[in-house]
Amino acid sequence: MTKTIELITGTVDKSYMHSIEDYKSHRGFNGLNNAVKMDKEDIIQEIIDAKLLGRGGAGFPTGIKWRHLYSVEGEPKYIVCNADEGEPGTFKDRLFMKKDPLIVIEGMLIAAYVFGSKEGYIYIRGEYRGLFEGFELALKNAKEAGYLGENILGIEGFDFDINIISGAGAYVCGENSTLLNSIEGQAGRPRVKPPRLAEVGLFGKPTLVNNVETFANIPIILDRGAEYYRSVGTEESGGSLIVCTSGHAKNRHYFEVPVGTNLKDIIYDEELAGGTSTRKPVKFVHIGGQSGPLAFPEQFDISFDHISLRNAGLSIGTGAIVIVDESVCLVDYLKKVFEFFIDESCGKCNPCREGNQQMYILLDKFSKGEGTEKDIETMKNLAEAMMQASFCGLGQAAPTALMSALRHRESEFLAHVDKECSKCFKKEVM
Ligand SMILES: Cc1cc2nc3c(=O)[nH]c(=O)nc-3n(C[C@H](O)[C@H](O)[C@H](O)COP(=O)(O)O)c2cc1C
Ligand code: SF4
Repeated sequence: MTKTIELITGTVDKSYMHSIEDYKSHRGFNGLNNAVKMDKEDIIQEIIDAKLLGRGGAGFPTGIKWRHLYSVEGEPKYIVCNADEGEPGTFKDRLFMKKDPLIVIEGMLIAAYVFGSKEGYIYIRGEYRGLFEGFELALKNAKEAGYLGENILGIEGFDFDINIISGAGAYVCGENSTLLNSIEGQAGRPRVKPPRLAEVGLFGKPTLVNNVETFANIPIILDRGAEYYRSVGTEESGGSLIVCTSGHAKNRHYFEVPVGTNLKDIIYDEELAGGTSTRKPVKFVHIGGQSGPLAFPEQFDISFDHISLRNAGLSIGTGAIVIVDESVCLVDYLKKVFEFFIDESCGKCNPCREGNQQMYILLDKFSKGEGTEKDIETMKNLAEAMMQASFCGLGQAAPTALMSALRHRESEFLAHVDKECSKCFKKEVM
């Protein structure tokens, strides 16, 4: 049986990506057409029943987020699509931006209809500059066909337009409050929460921020119905996931799989990642981006869904799966992780700005054979302090990979204390 599906990628590569007619001939705008015939609260209920969990990283239930914003007083309400996609190893949002922009626009349109929003923003990471032109063309075509602008679908007062905003390459700008600051032209630094963005968001107004893939799921739910959508995934997490495989993976690609596919299959099945291209055994996989945990082979036999992974101390994050083979030293790998966070820390708070630096220095001691058992304890305490005291999710999640490594492979750190890591310390030939 085939392992991949086409629930939300059904219009990817099937049509000329910006053409309204092609999109419509593949069920495009069916979701929106259904939505405008429904009560707004019923639309939200359908999304709740579908058990769609946000695809931006945290896995927050989308319908619950929508229901809360719906209950908030205040106008205007803004719709923001997070296309910052800064998590290394993640290239799923780019897929929709490049090959199916209309499904993202349709998802945002449904949100605009529910919240009576007049204006939306899509915040695209600066490195994706090459995708801007295509997305602009999709917006232009949608406008010419009456799907953007005034009185959409002939419905009086259903007016909506989408602005494209370019990021400038800072990972932290993917964090939702930082993203809003950046749209407003302020420095890319996170805000104090509460207030929640649903209450005080863009320009101080109630705001919805959802990820690209999350928006791409909305038309499918409204087209196929919550029951069908949920039947594809698990009881608690509906639909499909786009997983992106990279690193030593034999097949470095994106794959759409039902939520609940076994992680072992994702890693080893020839139709999916296919194991390693080096033919060396898999040492670990890094799940969900740099801020995600490492999973080791004894953990691979697990349903790839938000709840099962969470219960096992793992998380789906962005769906990135970086496969790493036995040739890599775990300490070296973690140093690279912290190099990334040192570069990307915005510097606003001490636990993150200093913590990442200190963590790198400690790991470097292990590489040089100077690390001690006491340093392992120091790293654990520092990680705890960073997770508890950092101002935003960047610093809070930075030690996640290290903590999972210490939990499952402390022996590899101890091997460095004893200078027994064959990758770092060459044995002298007598
Ligand atoms: C440091 C940091 C970077 C983030 N980067 C992204 C990103 O690039 N794209 C994204 O959709 N969410 C990102 N998020 C998560 C967002 O804050 C937010 O939770 C998400 O956009 C909500 O969308 P969802 O509910 O559809 O998942 C990031 C969070 C943090 C803390
Ligand atoms: S945790 Fe602190 S320093 Fe790090 S990115 Fe967030 S606000 Fe900036």
